[in-house]
Amino acid sequence: MANLIKTMIQTRHVTRRMTTAPRKILVTSALPYANGSIHLGHLVEYIQTDIWVRFQKMQGNSCHYVCADDTHGTPIMLRAEKEGITPEQLIARVWQEHYDDFKAFHVNFDHYGSTNSAETREFANTIYNRLKAGDLIAKRSIEQYYDPVKEMFLPDRFIKGECPKCHAKDQYGDNCEVCGAAYTTSEVINPYSAVSGAKPVMKASDHYFFKLSAPSCQKFLQEWTTGQLTKEPPLQSEAANKMQEWLGTEGDNKLTDWDISRDAPYFGFEIPDAPGKYFYVWLDAPVGYMGSFKKLCNEKGINFDDYWKQGSDAELYHFIGKDILYFHALFWPAMLQHAGFRTPTKLFAHGFLTVNGEKMSKSRGTFITASSYVEHIKNTEYLRYYYAAKLNGTMEDLDLSLDDFVAKVNSDLIGKYINIASRTAGFISKKFDGRLAAKEGITDARASELMASFVNASSLIAQCYEDRDFGKAIREIMRLADLANEYVNDKAPWVLTKQEGQEAALQEACTVSLNLFRLLTLYLKPILPVLAKEVEHFLNIDALTWTKAGELLFKHRINEYKHLMTRIDPKSITALIESNQESLQAAAEPSPARHAEAQQHAIAPIAETISIDDFSKIDLRVARIVNAEHVEGAEKLLKLTLDIGEEKPRTVFAGIKSAYDPEKLKGRMTVMVANLAPRKMKFGMSEGMVLAASGETPGLFILSPDEGAQPGMRIK
Ligand code: MSP
Ligand code: ZN
Repeated sequence: MANLIKTMIQTRHVTRRMTTAPRKILVTSALPYANGSIHLGHLVEYIQTDIWVRFQKMQGNSCHYVCADDTHGTPIMLRAEKEGITPEQLIARVWQEHYDDFKAFHVNFDHYGSTNSAETREFANTIYNRLKAGDLIAKRSIEQYYDPVKEMFLPDRFIKGECPKCHAKDQYGDNCEVCGAAYTTSEVINPYSAVSGAKPVMKASDHYFFKLSAPSCQKFLQEWTTGQLTKEPPLQSEAANKMQEWLGTEGDNKLTDWDISRDAPYFGFEIPDAPGKYFYVWLDAPVGYMGSFKKLCNEKGINFDDYWKQGSDAELYHFIGKDILYFHALFWPAMLQHAGFRTPTKLFAHGFLTVNGEKMSKSRGTFITASSYVEHIKNTEYLRYYYAAKLNGTMEDLDLSLDDFVAKVNSDLIGKYINIASRTAGFISKKFDGRLAAKEGITDARASELMASFVNASSLIAQCYEDRDFGKAIREIMRLADLANEYVNDKAPWVLTKQEGQEAALQEACTVSLNLFRLLTLYLKPILPVLAKEVEHFLNIDALTWTKAGELLFKHRINEYKHLMTRIDPKSITALIESNQESLQAAAEPSPARHAEAQQHAIAPIAETISIDDFSKIDLRVARIVNAEHVEGAEKLLKLTLDIGEEKPRTVFAGIKSAYDPEKLKGRMTVMVANLAPRKMKFGMSEGMVLAASGETPGLFILSPDEGAQPGMRIK
């Protein structure tokens, strides 16, 4: 009996896929951070998702594809500050850039939103409140590194210092780029804040935790990740194995509570009942999937709950990179489950892109932005095709070999596929007034078999798309293209056209070839949507869909063939690499070392030599900036009050207004010339001078002594 039921369930499952009852599908790609440009690595994901979604829509399924910019967190806050704009201004600008990049690559979202939206805030609050009501939120005080100058807690990546293993200087707070060691920030030697350079101090603060260690959470995640709660396992097998490592086993649970709050200053959503505390960016980021979908529901009148309520029969898929599996396979399902929402049907994790066999690199020019690709290569369907050929639905990394890219696109797309139409269409236009042969005109058994086998391939190719094994789909499509080319070669229409009495044979050969070409176009359409549209126009047909694969074209009138696609010029690849080398050097965040290097080429000439006596005439002192304020009516000046250990602090007017917010200067140590003759200025007497560095490039930088220096110490 049990076996029988199992068989019945399996049969039902298969028939569900086979019947035409449309599936209800919601698909997402990971939300790109709003502080960087889209690059070719990102596109592995968005192109892949888009192909799958287009395939589902062509199958007649209801499929919605949403995404958004991931806008919160410390890096975005600091980046905006550095650019002198608000975070809202920054994320609005980047949103437009991302939107344009995706559009250029034909990534066709049904809605592209932002996590900084009212909808996302509301869902984040709802989830938090429900977790809290379920006793799954804990408040605990923790100690963390704090930047006393910048007055903020420092995320790990903003701590730098000496590697505890190899003692390389200026390494990140969690890993060393020189020796590859991983460690915790507390192990870093002589840590300093990457934001201000100040020595961080340990400071306690209350944080909110999602109690993932609670038995209910552990049990749920054990069961969910191993597929015990769903019809089909939600994770790829490699991902499921990884999860078991991370989760531990029953009795030896490794999952600890998750810190979901951050202290002000932070760009994000303030936690409802905790003023000054914000949701950690990774708490509201996946909630952005819901927020963005909600916007789409509002626009299109879709019922949100049909997709998100517990027990929903809609399918929910998240395409993600393997680096963010942890968040999507543990935190996210646990949040949803315990807040009363449905969990994902499946996570589709993919590997990372390498270029020419190596990690993308700015110095090699292989950290290629989407916009530079558009500028230099123009046709974005080449890349869609190449990625599709390399994707197989697993978490393996994939390589963009630029030589192979050129060779494959030129030989497959132009040499094989386009070639079928370009060698046959002209005869139909010139000799038959654009008209294809009638069905009865197909007399050759080989031709009929060929067309039938192309139609029959539709289910195998559809299965490859469904399984996200796009590489296999393309191998099958190119195998068919080879057969079509053999047919064209054997029939040789360019010979038939010159022979008397061969008109019918010529029309038949070209009609068959163009029917084969039509089917190849259908199969390539999820990957090459723009080209497919041009072919639809050329063949003068309705939009190609899977269900109508078998509707062959006879006696049908086509439009004149116009060139559909050109070869990639390898020179454009060279230009692409060069432009990424240049533009990224200029745009890159300069690390202190790189900055110094860049400046060496642009320094002002060194002044005339002086003696040590000349130098010692200048009395330089360590000064504490006790106060700093704007000066009414002064364009460039700030009024500084400097303590150098004298009875009365000094007043100095310094031309640093363009570079410093006075609030941020208060309490800072710097260096002043203490024996400069006082100077009467329009705004009052200036009793000295603070020192600042400047060069060819914009920017003005006051000096800071090392930790430990006291006001009044002489500098010599
Ligand atoms: N903001 C988070 C995701 C939040 S989802 C709720 C994030 N953003 S990201 O911009 O860093 O990455 C966005 C997606 O692009 C991720 O799925 C990531 O894995 C993917 N990729 C980024 N670089 C990549 C490669 N070099 N290769 C393949 N995918 C890559 O993570
Ligand atoms: Zn090291």
